[in-house]
Amino acid sequence: MDFALNEEQQQAAEMVRRFAQTEIEPTIGEWDRRQEMSPDVLPRMGELGILGICLPVRYGGQGFDYVTLGLVCEELERVDTTLRVIMSVHMGLCSLTILQWGTEEQKKRFLIPQAQGKEYAGFGLTEPGHGSDAANIRATARREGDTYILNGEKMWISLATKAHNFLVVARTDPNAKPSAGLTAFMITSDMKGVTTGDIHGKLGVRAGSTGWIAMQDVEVPAAYRIGEEGEGFKVAMSALDNGRYTVGAGATGLIRACLEESVAYAKQRETFGVPIAQHQLIQQKLGYMSLWYDTARLLCLRAGWMKNQGLRNTRETSQAKWYATDHSVMAALEAVQIHGAYGFSDEYKVERYLRNSKGAVIYEGTSEIHQLMQAAYALGERTDGKLRCELPAYDTEAWQTE
Ligand code: CAA
Repeated sequence: MDFALNEEQQQAAEMVRRFAQTEIEPTIGEWDRRQEMSPDVLPRMGELGILGICLPVRYGGQGFDYVTLGLVCEELERVDTTLRVIMSVHMGLCSLTILQWGTEEQKKRFLIPQAQGKEYAGFGLTEPGHGSDAANIRATARREGDTYILNGEKMWISLATKAHNFLVVARTDPNAKPSAGLTAFMITSDMKGVTTGDIHGKLGVRAGSTGWIAMQDVEVPAAYRIGEEGEGFKVAMSALDNGRYTVGAGATGLIRACLEESVAYAKQRETFGVPIAQHQLIQQKLGYMSLWYDTARLLCLRAGWMKNQGLRNTRETSQAKWYATDHSVMAALEAVQIHGAYGFSDEYKVERYLRNSKGAVIYEGTSEIHQLMQAAYALGERTDGKLRCELPAYDTEAWQTE
């Protein structure tokens, strides 16, 4: 068993750490207060190759592996959750799903501009009335010749007003069992009948972009269908296997942020004549936070390693996402407590960390959904079989060849 990261993985993480710390950190508090995404963020992530970090070079990507994707997400969320959310939807939920299920033409049409940062991507599964119960979504798609006509609404969509392309799921067969009647499509924001809007007033992830998509008689070419008719639920669930991986890896970075800020504060803040770092009750919190960080990181590394090998990892990814996000909320609560009254004000970053941590125990599968999934695996009621299209295993030579 080899726990070491190779040179390429370390260099990619270091490059992203430098970007996030020097270009984002100085102003992120202000963007968070304004509840707006800085217009520089997406173009800079595109320029630096981050938006195509783990896609093959022949599809415009940088050719790094899935473990690197996790490390990059950790570094991004170490500074702010909004940066990692971009990776979750653009790369995890959309680009990797096209890599897994798309035809060669679809890969050329969507992956190349998305990997190069020329087009941004989102994911539309959730609806106003359907989140956890994804199989029962209401959006519809009706085939007419070489076109599908899509109608419906999608809600809580990251990058809704920024993305050019969305992977959406709609019902093509109302008579099939709910999960077997869905089909996935790529739609573009400039298609007639597509409208989008922003949602404001969120508890956290305020420097990010969250919104809705409305589809009214949108004509989508049949060539933009991802997978077969009726495979939409599987496409969406396998997308979540990648999205959840990025969420877990990002939450690991948030735990690290809470730990690092708390250690720095505890060393300089004095009470009862000594730095609070010398009080055992503060040390207990720091000890737990460091354990949570290492455990979350190891669970994510295992999921990334399995992706590299081309192994199904739904169970392991769900575990990593569940553990890391639950513990990022716990770490943020402890970080605020360690900072005392200062932690309760936006003078210190931990207040933003706490607000940001809460979303991830809700989106991409609530903690409750992950508990149920893990119980079903433990009871032998759920197993991960072979899929018609698997996420390709990482192959250094193939991924780095033009
Ligand atoms: N990959 C591929 N196929 C999968 C799969 C996966 N990961 N998981 C299940 N499937 C397949 C099953 O094998 C099964 O196939 P067969 O019918 O051929 O046997 C089919 O899908 C149906 O499976 P189940 O009926 O067993 O359904 P499930 O138990 O897997 O799913 C659920 C139930 C766990 C509650 C699921 O609906 C779920 O995960 N819900 C949460 C949805 C969610 O995470 N939404 C977040 C939206 S995205 C978001 O939040 C992003 C944002 O922008 C903020």
